[in-house]
Amino acid sequence: MQRGISAPRSVAKWHTWPGSDFCADCRLPRGLFLRFDGRVSDPAFPPESLDERFLQAALAEGRRGVGKTSPNPAVGAVIVRGEGEPRIVGSGWHRRAGLPHAEIEALRSLPEPSLARGATLYVTLEPCSTHGRTPPCTQAILDAGIRRVVIGCLDPNPAHAGRGVEILRAAGVEVRVGVLEEDCRRLNLGFNQWIVTRMPWVIAKAGMSLDGRIARPPESPRWITNEASRADTHRLRAQVDAILVGGGTLRADNPQLTVRGLPPEAAADSPQPWRVIVSRSGNLPPESAVFTDEHRDRTLVFTGRPLREVLAELGRQGVTSVLIEGGMRVLGEAFDERLVNQVCFYVAPLLLGGPVLVTGGLGVGSSAKAPRIVNPQYERFGDDVRMTGEVEYPAR
Ligand SMILES: NC(=O)c1ccc[n+]([C@@H]2O[C@H](COP(=O)([O-])OP(=O)(O)OC[C@H]3O[C@@H](n4cnc5c(N)ncnc54)[C@H](OP(=O)(O)O)[C@@H]3O)[C@@H](O)[C@H]2O)c1
Repeated sequence: MQRGISAPRSVAKWHTWPGSDFCADCRLPRGLFLRFDGRVSDPAFPPESLDERFLQAALAEGRRGVGKTSPNPAVGAVIVRGEGEPRIVGSGWHRRAGLPHAEIEALRSLPEPSLARGATLYVTLEPCSTHGRTPPCTQAILDAGIRRVVIGCLDPNPAHAGRGVEILRAAGVEVRVGVLEEDCRRLNLGFNQWIVTRMPWVIAKAGMSLDGRIARPPESPRWITNEASRADTHRLRAQVDAILVGGGTLRADNPQLTVRGLPPEAAADSPQPWRVIVSRSGNLPPESAVFTDEHRDRTLVFTGRPLREVLAELGRQGVTSVLIEGGMRVLGEAFDERLVNQVCFYVAPLLLGGPVLVTGGLGVGSSAKAPRIVNPQYERFGDDVRMTGEVEYPAR
C-alpha cells in the first residue's frame, strides 16, 4: 500500500528528534521522515493522519497553558505550510486570560506574515467568533489568508459552538472539525463544565493506604504516600484554580496547600491556586500556614455553608476547577452530594487500619447506586499506584 505524500524534491534530508516530539530543525512531528526519493513517508500511518500529527503539535502547545489561563481554556495552535513536505512554520499557545489567543500567537510567531497565506492552521479549540477581551480570532485568520483550518473540538459553550466554523466556511476557508477531539476536550475539563453550568470541575484527591485510610498514625512521619506521588500532587495542584480542605484537615495537618517543586517552565506564570477552607465552627487556628505564609491573600474561608453553595460561589468568582484534598468528612459530603467529577487517588502498599477512611459521608444504599469511575487509568509511582478517572453517577 502506498503510504506517504508526494514531494518532488531534489535533496532529501533526515529529520532528528532528540528527546522531543518534533524535528530539531523543521519541527516535523516525530515518526514522519523524508525518504531519499524526496517524499515524506510515514510507515505507520496513512497520509490523512498528518492532520492528527500536526494537531498533536497544537495539543503540545496547548498543554503549556494548562492551569495558567483560567477562566479561559488552554489552547494551542500551529501553522503548517508545504504541499509535499508540510512543516510547522509558526506555533503559539494561550498564556493567560486577557492575552492573545493561541491562533494570534501562532500568526505572530511567523518569521514573515505572508507565510500565513495559503497555509493550514491547526488549533485545539474552535476559534472564537465574538469580541471578548480580545478581537475575534476568525477575523484574524481570514485577514491572514489561512486557506485551511483543522480544529480539535468545537467551543463547548452551546451559544457559540459551530459559529466560528460557519464564519470560516462562509468565507471560503476549508475547515475540518473533530481531529483528536477527545484529547482536545480533555485539555479543558474544568472550562468545559464551568462555561456551561458555572459550577467548577471537582477533583477528589487523596493519598491512602491499601485499606483506604488517609490519616497517618500519630507517631509516623507525615506522609502515607511516597515522594514521587507527592511530586505528582504538585503537578495536579498547578492545574487547578483552587484547593479545598475541611477544618479537620487544617487542624490536624496545618497543610500549606501550595504548588512546590515544579520545573521552571511549568512554574513560570503559574498562579498559586486559591486555598479554600470550609468550617462550620470557625475554629481555625490563626497561626495556620494558610493564614500566615506569603500566599495568605490567596486563602478563603467559608463558614457554615453547604459544600454545593461554596462551589457555586467559587464558580461565580470564575473558579473553573477545584481540587478537594480531604479530609474524610468533606470528601464524604462531596460524594454524597454528587459534586465530584474526577478522582485522583494515590494508594500506598501499607495497611493502617483505624477510623479515618478516605470518604465518610452517608454512603450509598446499594452498589447499583454507587458512583463509578469511568475508564480508570492506573500509573505507578515507585511502589504507589495512582488511579484517576471521571466519576459517573447512576440515576437516582
Ligand atoms: N492522606 C490524605 O490525602 C489526607 C488529606 C486530607 C486529610 N487527611 C486526614 O484526614 C483527617 C481529617 O479528616 P476529617 O474528616 O476529620 O476532617 P475534614 O473532612 O478535613 O474536615 C471536616 C470539617 O470540615 C468542616 N466542614 C465539613 N463540611 C462542611 C461544610 N459543608 N460546610 C462547612 N464546613 C464543613 C467542618 O469543620 P469545623 O470542624 O471547623 O466546623 C468539619 O468538622 C486528618 O487525619 C488528616 O490528616 C488525609
